Amino acid sequence: MKSIATAGTFALGDRQVTRLGYGAMQLAGPGVFGPPRDRDAALAVLREAVESGVDHIDTSDFYGPHVTNQLIREALHPYRDDLVIVTKIGAVRDEQGGWLPAMSAADLAAAVHDNLRNLRLDALDVVNLRIMFDTHGPAEGDIEAPLSALAELQSRGLVRRIGLSNVTPAQVAQGRKICDIACVQNQYNLASRADDALIDALAEDGVAYVPFFPLGGFSPLQSAELNEVAHRLQATPMQVALAWLLQRSPNILLIPGTSSAVHLRENLAAAQLVLPGDAVEALDRIGAATV
Ligand SMILES: NC(=O)c1ccc[n+]([C@@H]2O[C@H](COP(=O)([O-])OP(=O)(O)OC[C@H]3O[C@@H](n4cnc5c(N)ncnc54)[C@H](OP(=O)(O)O)[C@@H]3O)[C@@H](O)[C@H]2O)c1
Repeated sequence: MKSIATAGTFALGDRQVTRLGYGAMQLAGPGVFGPPRDRDAALAVLREAVESGVDHIDTSDFYGPHVTNQLIREALHPYRDDLVIVTKIGAVRDEQGGWLPAMSAADLAAAVHDNLRNLRLDALDVVNLRIMFDTHGPAEGDIEAPLSALAELQSRGLVRRIGLSNVTPAQVAQGRKICDIACVQNQYNLASRADDALIDALAEDGVAYVPFFPLGGFSPLQSAELNEVAHRLQATPMQVALAWLLQRSPNILLIPGTSSAVHLRENLAAAQLVLPGDAVEALDRIGAATV
């Protein structure tokens, strides 16, 4: 396979990472709950990602819970020096797999310690505070208390860099007054473009934007226009969706999720795909139609 280095790099806090990374959420069982269907296959996907040049893995201890972090540890520990593992805290799972807010200072401290133990690290590279005022999307509200609690854990050396997830632009602005914010992780893709202005503003300040659901999430993107462009470029629709994100803004870091080695190879090959101007115009119309 060709190198993913053609995707370029961008700063994630004080580290430079390749813009094509990997999201580990799909490695847990159905509904991101319980063990994987095929444990060996999950370990193999993680190893192949890193062997292919991925140096940025996104995870959380609430995937499983604990499952993806334990898989990452088993597959990759001791970690390569250039690997940046980004985790997120702010939620816990109930016994049925539901997602509950867990943003008190005690919850956040417990979550940092869970991540440290399950990843077997002394300090976490980047921790995203996942705001849970509304589980399904950003909702306004004061983030000072949980973010200050996370900043306190950073001052104790348990966390190197802090990011925000599932946040509004106002919360990003509030957060940046409280502590240095290395990255913002919100839902964004070809068809879901509410964060267009936020991405541009963060790019101006050199802050990474990491779209979750870059391929559409649990229901991968489906569009006649996307299929048409992919056919014309002899690529797959998922590769085109990733290439569109890469050309959208230099501060976008990709973390497509997959439990499949075949899909992993396909997604990483998107680093080689350069979209001509007329393809970008056609793809931009998909987002415009859904705004
Ligand atoms: N901050 C947050 O609130 C939040 C929320 C959700 C996710 N995340 C992070 O974002 C990462 C990415 O999100 P995601 O994994 O949910 O969504 P995604 O990357 O948009 O899409 C994943 C889905 O696409 C499928 N897929 C992947 N590559 C494919 C390919 N080449 N062809 C066809 N289907 C393909 C996967 O199935 P297969 O397994 O079969 O490939 C899976 O169903 C996660 O891993 C997680 O780390 C963060």
